[in-house]
Amino acid sequence: MLSRSRPSDTITYLEDGDWAVLTRAICVIYDSKGAVANRETLKSGASSLLVDKANYRHFMAKEIYEQPEVVGQTLARYVDMAAKRIALPFELPFDFNDIRRILITACGTASYAGHVAKYWFERLARIPVEIDVASELRYREAPLRKGDLAIVISQSGETADTLAALRYAKAQGLHTISVVNVPTSTIARESKTVLPTLAGPEIGVASTKAFTCQLMVMAALAIAAGKGRGELSDIDELKLVGELIEVPRLIAEAFAIEPQIEKLARDIAKSRAVLYLGRGTSFPLALEGALKLKEVSYIHAEGYAAGELKHGPIALIDESMPVVVIAPYDRVFEKTVSNMQEVAARGGNIILMTDATGASEATVDSLVTIVLPDVAATFTPMIYAIAVQLLAYHTAVLMGADVDQPRNLAKSVTVE
Ligand code: G6P
Repeated sequence: MLSRSRPSDTITYLEDGDWAVLTRAICVIYDSKGAVANRETLKSGASSLLVDKANYRHFMAKEIYEQPEVVGQTLARYVDMAAKRIALPFELPFDFNDIRRILITACGTASYAGHVAKYWFERLARIPVEIDVASELRYREAPLRKGDLAIVISQSGETADTLAALRYAKAQGLHTISVVNVPTSTIARESKTVLPTLAGPEIGVASTKAFTCQLMVMAALAIAAGKGRGELSDIDELKLVGELIEVPRLIAEAFAIEPQIEKLARDIAKSRAVLYLGRGTSFPLALEGALKLKEVSYIHAEGYAAGELKHGPIALIDESMPVVVIAPYDRVFEKTVSNMQEVAARGGNIILMTDATGASEATVDSLVTIVLPDVAATFTPMIYAIAVQLLAYHTAVLMGADVDQPRNLAKSVTVE
């Protein structure tokens, strides 16, 4: 195919083995045998307006601040707001009653969205969930049961390991759902069922708004699964969906903590390492918080299940160690407080992220207590994500790091 230069809203997908000669003026595509190939061109809906920094200093800040809107748009795609019912955008080609186990796989931040979702599927739908990073799943020859469900999660839809894991699950005869942000991506095109996140283009290398949108989709899917299996009644659904509908507004309210986070970032920026702790769904959020900080500020950070503290990381704690404890006032709050006591006893500097009740019930002195809006216990990760994202962002900015393009990282990792 020989064509004149095209505007950048035109897409041509290459097939396996294809290669292209691209100049300012022309694009010629050849197939694996070297013959000129005529591949279809499509129009992309992407708008350049969406890839502008607007009044923000960095894309990462803009994308953090877009969350009330894009999480709200994603919610509106999965929920009948008037009836307060889940209304998935597509009919699923299977019955949740036939699914014995769900396999979730992804990389990086998307994998932590999967970790949170494991708690939701198990609690709300009573389906066992296995979660593994795609780079491990693809090679460990996991025995998978035909007819079960695999869910892959990817912002870009191009991550090589996630794509390979999707292909593996398909080859094993699993139903596959992909939760993707880029609808024209390879993962979306190779998936029978695509559940879109409506985060819009995410430019900052460290994923922020895609993460909370992934959580919103997974929450809706977990409720749908619970309903489909008879684990949730109509009333349960109404209640949970009512709680989900509150999430975008609560995310917007969470930005009130920013001045406090900016101040805290000055201390964090001087730290050699930071520990993040959480239990239940706050555990994967601790992992995500640590990942965010190390990605953009280059400060070493570790996320741990709070209960694991005593099995190793407690040895690290001294007066120089900030410990971020993510502890909304939920059913495991008391347990997390006892872990905080262990940290306090060793002189660690506790940064408690909680809600008003948690702040008054915590019996341990913290260096800083960050009070987030009250949110239904099930859905706290979507609100607390704002706190860990802002902390990473402000710390990195203070340290003069290139927050949108951290060293050694790529937005989309299309190689192994
Ligand atoms: C890269 C990015 C991360 C992202 C991960 C998975 O490492 O730097 O921010 O979480 O890939 O990307 P995906 O596009 O599959 O969600």
